[in-house]
Amino acid sequence: APSNHVVIVVVTKNTSRLCSTKPIVTVNGKFPGPTIVAREDDTVLIKVVNHVKYNVSIHWHGIRQLRTGWADGPAYITQCPIQPGQIYMYNFTLTGQRGTLWWHAHILWLRATVHGAIVILPKRGVPYPFPKPHKEAIVVLSEWWKSDVEAVINEALKSGLAPNVSDAHTINGYPGPVSSCLSQGGLTLPVETGKTYMLRIINAALNEELFFKIADHQLTVVEVDAVYTKPFKTDTVLIAPGQTTNVLLTANRGPAKYLVAVSPFMDAPIAVDNVTATATLHYSGTLAHAPTTLTNPPPQNATPVAANFANSLRSLNSKLYPAKVPLKIDQSLLFTIGLGVNPCSTCVNGSRVVAGINNVTFVMPTVSLLQAHFFNTSGVFTDDFPGNPPTQYNYTAASQPVTNFLTETGTKLYRLSYNSTVQLVLQDTTVITAENHPVHLHGFNFFEVGRGLGNFNPKKDPKKFNLVDPVERNTISVPSGGWSAIRFRADNPGVWFMHCHLEVHTSWGLKMAFVVDNGKGPNESLLPPPTDLPKC
Ligand code: C2O
Repeated sequence: APSNHVVIVVVTKNTSRLCSTKPIVTVNGKFPGPTIVAREDDTVLIKVVNHVKYNVSIHWHGIRQLRTGWADGPAYITQCPIQPGQIYMYNFTLTGQRGTLWWHAHILWLRATVHGAIVILPKRGVPYPFPKPHKEAIVVLSEWWKSDVEAVINEALKSGLAPNVSDAHTINGYPGPVSSCLSQGGLTLPVETGKTYMLRIINAALNEELFFKIADHQLTVVEVDAVYTKPFKTDTVLIAPGQTTNVLLTANRGPAKYLVAVSPFMDAPIAVDNVTATATLHYSGTLAHAPTTLTNPPPQNATPVAANFANSLRSLNSKLYPAKVPLKIDQSLLFTIGLGVNPCSTCVNGSRVVAGINNVTFVMPTVSLLQAHFFNTSGVFTDDFPGNPPTQYNYTAASQPVTNFLTETGTKLYRLSYNSTVQLVLQDTTVITAENHPVHLHGFNFFEVGRGLGNFNPKKDPKKFNLVDPVERNTISVPSGGWSAIRFRADNPGVWFMHCHLEVHTSWGLKMAFVVDNGKGPNESLLPPPTDLPKC
């Protein structure tokens, strides 16, 4: 297979947004960082050079990393971080994947500004399963804080309280003409009347699910998380942190400038944040200075809009792209996800907000879990992660009042045997408040076979599962106060992180990892670590 060789340098760069300038951590001095373009089945070699004062690691979000967990990137999960002045070569093959994915720093809150797109083109000569768009554009959604992002989370972890929300959302790095900083225009998407375009939308925001809307235009969703979907039309796209969505856009309106709006969706916000980022869809030949056709983004709590979008997603499930949903299940798990409160003598209220899965607040190890697994080092993790929630904890609004807010802490993993099939119900809790949780699983795609509100009912709900064409993806937004059921096959040996992709929830402990044992066959074991693997 051809190989792509890329060198990226992590450097600090003074960057101005919202009328002020601050140093930010970037890749190659860019925010967002460069797009990595490769082709299905390519081998990709990416040399990462660390020129900043922080430890760094980069995750290739959504890339399966079959047997190459060493290249996955989450710090202390699959590798020790790349220390200042050091270099690490990520080496992996894009097996059976094509579409839009993305890369981001996977340590501290560096991914706020260290992220970019990955475009995997189909194999040469293989068309998209929809008419070829005239042009394609990458649309990266993110957030901007006026203050230093590491200081924001450090302050929050010290106080035990929630971190400050961002000061703006951004589209390809710019808030658009929403602030009083007139000098800062936003992204312009140039189009010609009658032509169709494909937008590769990525939500790289730290803490917010986002609505994406273009005034007066319908969008046709054709792919999510690098898996083709049954095309469907919508005027609003909902996209959670970690997710990617490809849409087709036909420029079939009168020539004008149309507003593109990006705004947060929060069902039960801890902090209110209504800031809309904007960009401009610009029909060629239009002279108007500013967008003439505006749009109102959905309100922050537009749950029906969000639910309608989530319920419309289906795998394409065609002959060429079949949905291989596991029908026979070896392991049936139920994980509660939510927030809790633990004592903290140094914190503002004598307690801190924590988060957990099945009531376990994950504690990051100080060496990499994958190394500990591969070299059989004891004392780094235990494999007793509970497959079901402890019964003394109530998990939704429908149940009795909560009597115990405390979580247990530990570095617990759940062990899966090679090629076993897993059904995992992710159940939101309301221990503090119901919230959306975009849960991301490394190393796998999974199928979302069902979702609903309230408590999952193990007797009734499975009868309604979609086992034919459920959406296949790597990050699922579990509805606030509800549940989502996913299925996957554990065909990738290694240690695989699973966490909420709201960075604040990850910091509070909403994370765990699966350890998948080697199989017995010749190509069923984790490859040995590369020789330049960073040391802790
Ligand atoms: Cu996109 Cu573990 O992350």
